[in-house]
Order: sequence, then structure tokens, then C-alpha cells
Amino acid sequence: MKIVITAGPTREPIDPVRYISNRSSGKMGYAIASAAVARGCRTTLISGPTCLPAPDGVEMIRVTTAAEMGEAVDAAIADADALIMAAAVADFTPANPAAQKLKKDRGLPSIVLQPTRDILASVVRPKKTFILVGFAAETENIEAHAKRKLSVKHCDFVVANDVSGFATGFDSDENIVTLYFQSGDVVKVPRADKRSIGTRIIDAVFELTNNH
Ligand code: PMT
Repeated sequence: MKIVITAGPTREPIDPVRYISNRSSGKMGYAIASAAVARGCRTTLISGPTCLPAPDGVEMIRVTTAAEMGEAVDAAIADADALIMAAAVADFTPANPAAQKLKKDRGLPSIVLQPTRDILASVVRPKKTFILVGFAAETENIEAHAKRKLSVKHCDFVVANDVSGFATGFDSDENIVTLYFQSGDVVKVPRADKRSIGTRIIDAVFELTNNH
């Protein structure tokens, strides 16, 4: 079984020294990758910029922007059985990043944003049995938003987490998640360290694979 996992934030350049990004530390995606290796999977981890070392046993691909992450995912899933998108991919990127550092004595710059590619919604499954797992990072109406993402992004299941606080979600060692499946099944995973949650997610991928 080969599993591709994305992790961390992306950085979208404003100029050569500034960027737009988010609070993702990469811990959730790296924990899923460790769990996949422990379950005997060939594991490719595609990571945005983080301070974390590569987990033992993974093929590590480091990227910076959403566009680079999308290209790396397309290439890595060609011979894979599953993709788990735990990365916090930027939804917007500056349309015209400046070639030189913006100078404040030239006045306030206006930064025009354009949408990035939605990687999860646009990947082409390399085979019928391929398992596609999305995350939903929400601050309100978690269930409704997660179910919408499950449907719009055509995932086999979505891992929803509340990112409104600091104890779970972004940049924490623990998380609380709910898995929403295409079958209508809902599995609540109570607060646990991200590695245990990673194991639950990998086990859910295995169960779906075995049921195909
Ligand atoms: O990295 P940590 O600090 O450990 O934090 C973990 C986490 C909070 C980042 C992680 O648990 C999580 O929720 N990851 C998904 C973050 C996110 O971008 O969620 P979203 O609801 O905005 O996006 C929905 C899904 O679409 C995600 O699977 C995302 O990877 C994917 N997406 C989003 C935008 C985009 N342009 N392309 C995508 O593929």
C-alpha cells in the first residue's frame, strides 16, 4: 500500500522576503505519516515549510507554495493507493508578487489576490479503488461545512477539526476530530495526541480499501 500525505502550511510570496501563510505546524500530517509507516505503508510526505524533522521511513518532498504542492501531489499519487490532504493549503495567492522588496517609502502597497488551485477537489484518481481523504478546518458550523466539503471535494471521508482555539487544531500536540464518510457514517474521535489520531485515520483508510 502506498499512501501520500500532505502537511504543513504553504507560503504565497508577496515579494522576495514576505509571504502569506497560516498557523499550521505540520504536526498533524507528520503524525499521520508516522502512523502510515508503522502500519507498513510506503509513505510519501509532501510538506510545506515546517520546523519538523522528516519522520523515519518516509519519502520526504518539501515544497513552498500551493502551486508546488499541487504539482508534487499529482506526481506522487500516480502509483499510490490513497491521498490524505492534511496540509493547510492557501486559498489565495498574490496575483503579481513583486520582484524586489516592497519599500514603505513608496506608500501602502495594494496586494491583489487570486485563488489557488484546490488540490483536493481537482486531483484525478489514478485508479477506481483510490482512497481520497480531506480535512475540514473550521471555526463554526463544523458538521455542515465538513459535510459540504465531503460532497463538493468528492472525498471518501473528511476529517473535521475545530481550529478556533489553541489547545487542539493548529500547532497543538493534540486534536479532536470527527470523520464523515460518504456512506453517512460519522465517527467521533475524542481528544488524543495527533499520532493516535493519525493511526485512526490510517485504519479507516485500510478498512475502506478492504471493503472495495
Ligand atoms: O499542522 P498542524 O499545526 O498540526 O494543524 C493541523 C491542521 C489544523 C492544519 C489540520 O488538522 C487540518 O485541518 N488541515 C486542513 C487545513 C485546511 O486547509 O482545511 P480547509 O478546510 O481550508 O480545506 C479543506 C481541504 O481542502 C483540506 O484537506 C485541504 O488540504 C484541501 N485544500 C484546501 C485548499 C486548497 N487550495 N487545496 C486543497 O487541497
